[in-house]
Amino acid sequence: MEKQEQQKVSRLVFVLIPFQGHINPMLQLATILYAKGFSITIIHPQFNSPNSSNHPEFTFIPISDNLPKSQVSAGDLFGIVSALNKNCEGPLTECIQEMLKAEDPHDRISCIVYDSTMYFSQSVADHLKLPGICVRTSPAATMLAFAVFPRLHEQGYISFLESMSLDRVSDLLSLMLKELAASMKKITTDGMLELRAAVADSVKKCSALIVNTVDFLEQEALTKVQELFSASAFTIGPFHKLVPTISGSLLKEDTNCISWLNKQAPKSVIYVSFGSIASIDEKELLETAWGLANCEQPFLWVVRPGLVRGSNCLELLPINFQDSVGERGCIVEWAPQKEVLANDAVGGFWSHCGWNSTLESICEGVPMLCKPFFGDQNLNMRYVCDVWNVGLELEEFEGGTIKNAIKRLMVDTEGKEMRKKAIHLKEKVELPLKEGGSCYNSLNDLVKKILSF
Ligand code: UDX
Repeated sequence: MEKQEQQKVSRLVFVLIPFQGHINPMLQLATILYAKGFSITIIHPQFNSPNSSNHPEFTFIPISDNLPKSQVSAGDLFGIVSALNKNCEGPLTECIQEMLKAEDPHDRISCIVYDSTMYFSQSVADHLKLPGICVRTSPAATMLAFAVFPRLHEQGYISFLESMSLDRVSDLLSLMLKELAASMKKITTDGMLELRAAVADSVKKCSALIVNTVDFLEQEALTKVQELFSASAFTIGPFHKLVPTISGSLLKEDTNCISWLNKQAPKSVIYVSFGSIASIDEKELLETAWGLANCEQPFLWVVRPGLVRGSNCLELLPINFQDSVGERGCIVEWAPQKEVLANDAVGGFWSHCGWNSTLESICEGVPMLCKPFFGDQNLNMRYVCDVWNVGLELEEFEGGTIKNAIKRLMVDTEGKEMRKKAIHLKEKVELPLKEGGSCYNSLNDLVKKILSF
């Protein structure tokens, strides 16, 4: 497809949800499709606006989100997602209507490509008679939980799930049941159930589904997704491997840690980061510091402002912490994570198991120490520890437990075996990206699908 020719006919309107773990894959996907010749408009709420200067090739349009400041400062994730889905519907409709009015016949809007968590976008697409493409930035398996959730809740299956013996069920089923039981416990309001049902509903109505995953990693889940939802699913992940240089960071990346990493022995460093949203309390921060100080491995620790809510965190560390660990420890507020994981010095990743971090880690063959917090992270940990066997679970935020878990991952035979498996998995993940591989073919099919709208 000639880019010049394509630019005349097909514009994709992306709708972002303003969280780092979603902005990154959506901008990566936009870049992948731009390279295939589509022109791109990115519509995003004003909150957490992406840095448009990193992408001069796209048109960025902010829309009003009317998010209450109290919700934002309290970090009320569920409240923010609900409010965005209510408050942005009008502004998004008006924005696209304006675009349609001013439309150049040689640069027509082909479809709306939205993050599945901005599920209202499908109603906007239906209203404007445009096809909607739903993008799932989490694993396909999360969609199975979404699809069956309301029924399980109504029928009180939670105690049944918890009491089930999981020894004799297939890997995926066992994983799903464990995840469902864990998630059910955390569901506390009808609003949360409604949100899950609304996402499932938009997936039922969309014209196509894009998932940031790889076929062989989730074959069983993908087959079930295709049974449950009629829209074709295009698996073109891991997105970041197709566009390695893209950064969508909202915080400034501290690149000093790369020179520090370059001085460390191969596979010696444990990299510690809990992503962009998870928060811990002061005691957990201190236990983490204690565990890292005593673990005898070099460590690179991302202490993000707000990791302990309302604090910049560094002030909470013991005064002599940096002195006591000396050159063995490097602390940054935000790291260039993909570059860090690709550095030969990194031998393990203590992660909250966000899906981006999980994919980035397996793509670099780095085994993981898993401590999930919420949402898909529990399920992602099950994949890492129980299905792919490239990581182990950290039971609790306790200095001694942390120290022992790091040793198991970085030094013990158990960890060495995991590293071998992780390297093998990295090699396997590279194949689908090559010509004729599943990701390569799926991307070509997706382009054909969009052109058929
Ligand atoms: C959120 C959810 O919490 C997660 O469960 C879901 O799968 C995606 O959305 P987040 O918690 O931020 O994401 O985690 P993750 O998915 O791992 O995304 C974080 C992104 O920020 C990654 O792309 C990572 O490379 C990047 N990052 C993180 C940095 O660039 N620097 C850092 O220091 C830390």
